[in-house]
Formats: sequence, structure tokens, C-alpha cells
Amino acid sequence: MAYEWHKPLEGKWITFSVLTFLAVIVGGIALVIPPFFLQGTIEPIEGMRPYSALEVEGRDIYIREGCNTCHSQQVRPLKSETDRYGPFSVAGESVYDRPFLWGSRRTGPDLHRVGGKYPDSWHWLHFENPRNIEPRSNMPDFAFLLNRELDTSLTRRRLEVLRTLGHPYSDAEVEGAVEDAMAQAATIAASLRKDGISLDEVQARSEGVAIIAYLQSLGRHRQAPPVATAGTASAPAGGR
Ligand code: HEC
Repeated sequence: MAYEWHKPLEGKWITFSVLTFLAVIVGGIALVIPPFFLQGTIEPIEGMRPYSALEVEGRDIYIREGCNTCHSQQVRPLKSETDRYGPFSVAGESVYDRPFLWGSRRTGPDLHRVGGKYPDSWHWLHFENPRNIEPRSNMPDFAFLLNRELDTSLTRRRLEVLRTLGHPYSDAEVEGAVEDAMAQAATIAASLRKDGISLDEVQARSEGVAIIAYLQSLGRHRQAPPVATAGTASAPAGGR
């Protein structure tokens, strides 16, 4: 037999395990280290801005509620995905995402391009009860987010910490974080009221409003795809 040379090695299980381990380590390093030095993965793409104060809060609530366990934020460069969701995701879009929320599981649809897809009021009604919008939805309702006031005691601190990690916030943005967040919340509240949703004072500054701000920002810093492939749709498709 021509392939018997490995038999003695297989007999020595400790040596074999160590060699296998080394092979995996070398392969892993070869795969993991180079991207740290690739410009494309560490440079923001053109048009990127860090999240606003309210979006940062909304993002933290998104993580707290585990939305990322059902929703990915990574459109792959496949025709079926770009037709459905819009331009595929590139690394430079994630430079202000700590931790990134690419995800690997899609119980619900990908959300990387959901910003601007629906009006704010759509999200409000959807959080109230996803069955309001899609009768067969198995997404849990998040109505409590709509009635819980956003805690802004750490908003400024959050921006400060992100700044130490390299997110380019100005002094004014850090100092005025809470005012900025409240101003953006007021804009969203106004759009909800315009669509006929009546809000009390707490609802107008609720966690729900913060998470809507975050969702509406997703995919909106993105310019045209870097490589135009046949499968790249220019706008997100409407259907699910
Ligand atoms: C148990 C899994 C699950 C969890 C947790 C979950 N979702 Fe969903 N989500 C779904 C499913 C399934 C759909 C598709 C049906 C629908 O629209 O309700 C969906 C749809 C959506 C949509 C509409 C997407 C589109 O393009 O039409 C948004 C936005 C959304 N979810 C946001 C959230 C947010 C924000 C959270 C956390 C607060 C969350 N989801 C938590 C399962 C989930």
C-alpha cells in the first residue's frame, strides 16, 4: 500500500495530537493575522461616521435584548442576498461596531440594510406586536421597550469610552451627548406622531425610540459597492 507511511504516526496518539494541534494553529494564524494589517478591514469606508449618541444607546439595547441572536448584520456577496437585502457588506463598514454584530444565525432577516427601508412608525408597530405587520411572524414582541424611559446617565461616558477606542467624536459631541440624544429622539417622536401614533412623554424618550434610531442608521453610511458585480442590486428589495 502506498499510503501506509502515516500508520506509525497514528499509533502514537500524543505525537499525533500535538502535530495536529500545531497544524491547526499555523493555519489559524495564517488566516487570522493578515487581516489586522489589511487597510480594507481597519479603514472606514468613505462616508462612514460613528453612531450618534442615541444610536449608541439603541445599539446597546439591541445587544441587551439579544436581537443579534436572531438577526445577522452581514449581507453576503451572493445574488440571492443582494437581491433581497441590497449591497453586500464590506469590512470598512464595521469599524465603529464594537463588538461587531455580523452574526451567524438568521431566524429573522438580515438587518444590515434595514435603515430607511421602513418609516419609524412601522418599527414602532412592529415592536408593539410583530403580528401587527406580519401575521406569521415568530419574533417576540418588545412592547415594553416603548414604555420604558431611556436611561441617559451613561450616554456621555459611553461616547468617551468609544473615543478612547478611536471613534472620532469631537469634544462638543461628547459634552452634548445627552442633549443630542434627546434632540434626535424628539425628531423621531415627531415622525411617529405625524403617522398617527400618540405618545406620552415617557414614550417619546423611550428605549424604543433609541432602538429605532439605531435601526434607521444601519447601512446608511454606505456608498456604492466597491466592485460592481452582476449580482449587486442598487437598492434594498422590498420583500422579505
Ligand atoms: C426569536 C427571534 C427574533 C428575535 C429575538 C428578534 N427578532 Fe426581529 N424578526 C424575527 C423574524 C422571524 C422576523 C420576520 C417576521 C417579521 O417581520 O416580524 C423579524 C423581523 C424584524 C424586522 C423587519 C426586517 C425586515 O427587513 O423586514 C426588524 C427591523 C426586526 N425584526 C428587529 C428586531 C429587533 C430590533 C429585535 C430586538 C429588540 C428583534 N428583531 C428580535 C425574529 C426575531
